[in-house]
Amino acid sequence: MGGRQREAPRCVILPCRLFVVPLLLVVLGAPWPVAPVWSMDRYELMQILRTIPPNGPFETYGNTALRPPPKKGSMDPVYFPHWSHRARYDCRVCHLELKFSIYKGETRISRRKNLAGKYCGACHDGKTAFAVKDNALCSRCHQPDKNAFNQAFAAFTRRLPAAEFGNGIDWAKAAQEGYIDPLHTLQPGNQPPMPLPEKLLKPLELGTKAPRSGILFSHQDHMGWLDCSNCHPEIFDIQKEGTQYFSMESNIYGQFCGVCHMRTAFPMSDCHRCHPGMKNHRTGGGSF
Ligand code: HEC
Ligand code: HEC
Ligand code: HEC
Ligand code: HEC
Ligand code: HEC
Ligand code: HEC
Repeated sequence: MGGRQREAPRCVILPCRLFVVPLLLVVLGAPWPVAPVWSMDRYELMQILRTIPPNGPFETYGNTALRPPPKKGSMDPVYFPHWSHRARYDCRVCHLELKFSIYKGETRISRRKNLAGKYCGACHDGKTAFAVKDNALCSRCHQPDKNAFNQAFAAFTRRLPAAEFGNGIDWAKAAQEGYIDPLHTLQPGNQPPMPLPEKLLKPLELGTKAPRSGILFSHQDHMGWLDCSNCHPEIFDIQKEGTQYFSMESNIYGQFCGVCHMRTAFPMSDCHRCHPGMKNHRTGGGSF
């Protein structure tokens, strides 16, 4: 692969104590089975597997608690289910056209803006979806129980292609094979995603010298969901190899690929989908 090695000043990005844990494990022996085909540096692998947070139940992956919650006692908090919306709309509809931030807690959603037809109110107007102004339906969004959508999830997911992590749904395959057909815009006429310039059709080689870390990043895989400005320039430099401090650790901490691939899209535990040369692993803590 590219042979690129980007070393971040580690203790700046990560708390140093994280590197003590894997050291102890080297001494005590790894508590999880390591596949025989694995030839990556053991220390590096353990460090990575160790820091990935548990996936949690499939049905709550990507359910975002909205902030700020309404004042105590006035209304229950709002949990936004990504799974139900992303089956109907691309990320770009909300994270570009409707100006929802892709970082939790950044969007100033309020009752007033919803009633004015912004944010949730852009669709929850009584025509596209149940209305924000209907007094009988407040509790469909304001509810104390963040597991309230579990039943609907079970029914929804039954017919979709499965994946190992995240929502337990292979969203890429679901879209490719027509199980879902998310709208790409709220403007009249559902325009197809912008065609990619020739240069970007060829997947980019990312990755480092670590064995099997090689990645082919495909712009094409992403353009059905996103807009260029969802990634450039905020998350990734638009020059190949221009992104600073880009590493697996920072991915796991929710930066770079991890902005989406720890919260909404399939998570970092699914090594094989990004690193075709790797197998997936289970961590010792029984977290998955
Ligand atoms: C119907 C609207 C809608 C759609 C479609 C949508 N999102 Fe979101 N997303 C939101 C809202 C609302 C938030 C919360 C924003 C806030 O708190 O400021 C959010 C938050 C996020 C976050 C931060 C979550 C967290 O827990 O930190 C990520 C990452 C994200 N979205 C990615 C995506 C991706 C990727 C897609 C497409 C697969 C997508 N979203 C589709 C509305 C949407
Ligand atoms: C489509 C989902 C949705 C529905 C339906 C809804 N709300 Fe909200 N509401 C939100 C979101 C999102 C926020 C802002 C984030 C938060 O406060 O958790 C909010 C905020 C509020 C706030 C906090 C104060 C403010 O101005 O931001 C109040 C009060 C409120 N809603 C009242 C209501 C009432 C009353 C109803 C029913 C008539 C209702 N909401 C229906 C999504 C909804
Ligand atoms: C781009 C359009 C769109 C936006 C923006 C949107 N929704 Fe929805 N939402 C829908 C549609 C369509 C449905 C399903 C139709 C219905 O149940 O009336 C739905 C359903 C829901 C449901 C019920 C879950 C389900 O699928 O049964 C909740 C809860 C919800 N939305 C909350 C929110 C909140 C909170 C926001 C704002 C943060 C929001 N929605 C923004 C279109 C949207
Ligand atoms: C999902 C995130 C994502 C989206 C969406 C995205 N890019 Fe990129 N892009 C990347 C990454 C990652 C790189 C590599 C950055 C690096 O190596 O530091 C990159 C690199 C590039 C490069 C440099 C390629 C080279 O070979 O030198 C260009 C040009 C580019 N993107 C343009 C675009 C355009 C135009 C769009 C919209 C059509 C787009 N990107 C959408 C993530 C994205
Ligand atoms: C802005 C959000 C976002 C960012 C940033 C992002 N992705 Fe994705 N990616 C997605 C979404 C959404 C999908 C669709 C599949 C899903 O949701 O699970 C996807 C799909 C993929 C797929 C296709 C999987 C398949 O089975 O077809 C790969 C591989 C992938 N991403 C790798 C990466 C890599 C590597 C990076 C960082 C260089 C990255 N992505 C950054 C949102 C993002
Ligand atoms: C969403 C995509 C994605 C997934 C899933 C993923 N990786 Fe990575 N990984 C990357 C990217 C991108 C890089 C290269 C960063 C760069 O270019 O410097 C990387 C780099 C690495 C490296 C090289 C050292 C380093 O820190 O950069 C190792 C080792 C690695 N990954 C291991 C894993 C393991 C183990 C898993 C599963 C537990 C995994 N990766 C899952 C995207 C991913």
